[in-house]
Amino acid sequence: MGRNIKKSIAELIGYTPLLELSQYEKLLGLDAHIIAKLEYFNPNNSVKDRIALAMVEDAENRGLLKKGDTIIETTSGNTGIALAAIAASRGYKFRTYIQDRVSIERTKVIQAFGGEVIKFSQVEPYNRIMEETHGDFIAATRALVDVILSKEKNIFFSYQIENKINPAIHEKSTGPEIWRDTDGDVDILVAAVGTGGTLSGAGAYLRKKKPLIHIVAVQPGPDSVPTDDNPEPDEIAGVHRFSDMPPDRIPHTFNLDILDEAIAVETSEARTAARAVAKSDGILVGTSSGAVLHAATLLARRAENKGKTIVVIFADTGLHYLSTDLFTESVSSV
Ligand SMILES: Cc1ncc(COP(=O)(O)O)c(C=O)c1O
Repeated sequence: MGRNIKKSIAELIGYTPLLELSQYEKLLGLDAHIIAKLEYFNPNNSVKDRIALAMVEDAENRGLLKKGDTIIETTSGNTGIALAAIAASRGYKFRTYIQDRVSIERTKVIQAFGGEVIKFSQVEPYNRIMEETHGDFIAATRALVDVILSKEKNIFFSYQIENKINPAIHEKSTGPEIWRDTDGDVDILVAAVGTGGTLSGAGAYLRKKKPLIHIVAVQPGPDSVPTDDNPEPDEIAGVHRFSDMPPDRIPHTFNLDILDEAIAVETSEARTAARAVAKSDGILVGTSSGAVLHAATLLARRAENKGKTIVVIFADTGLHYLSTDLFTESVSSV
């Protein structure tokens, strides 16, 4: 028997397991199979480990990063955690600009890896841009990039909403893993959209293998996005609305053409589903996974989906939400 000892966290990324939510299906009397891809099995507990490693390796290969340089990103948390860990393990510094409502666990984890965390509200003029755009992450990121790139040296801005490596790594890893572990028995793919990288990349691979696969994007419902009347709603961390948005508000990493359907889910529905699967199957996931599960439940209840296999991407761990009220409110029925 040979030794099996990894030398770097980079070697622990990917090959996450698929788990059928058997008890959840039984409890709700569903006739379809809901199979969760548990991305919290990545070393830093989210799907973003994949893109962090891939973006850094690509920058190294292109000579854009040298020891001591600072990697910079704007993030709702998970990409920051992932990049901070990769930066620590490879001798880079890391700085992230985060949305103000990001949970305290994420900030603390990034800091534990030696990363610097700056809130958007602490930065001018992005502060103003966030206000003007109701906290539009993409507009704020683009403004930030223009200034940082023009003034700073020895930095690499990984730019997850523009970087083609983001969907590409999901086409190379996430999609093939789903195909292999289902043995090609996958009818529907459901994922929440932030940068759109996961759905666009994994979806592209699976579409090539199975042209009739049904690809479903989950986005926040109207009550879960900031508006003039409701500037600070409860949001689903990491997930952005794309319907009815002008083209410049859609990340370049999101290929809308891959979609067969979009389902809007409110934060309260997402939380209810996340709480339900914690109790039914012992799976602790974040709000976006709850949103994806709620959408999958709606799909499973459709007569035409009887007996079908629905693969859902569970993007991160519920442990990063313990300071929020994700798991503290009383459970209502799904
Ligand atoms: C918790 C969570 N879920 C889902 C997503 C969406 O993933 P993607 O950016 O690949 O669309 C993100 C991305 O930021 C996230 O942080």
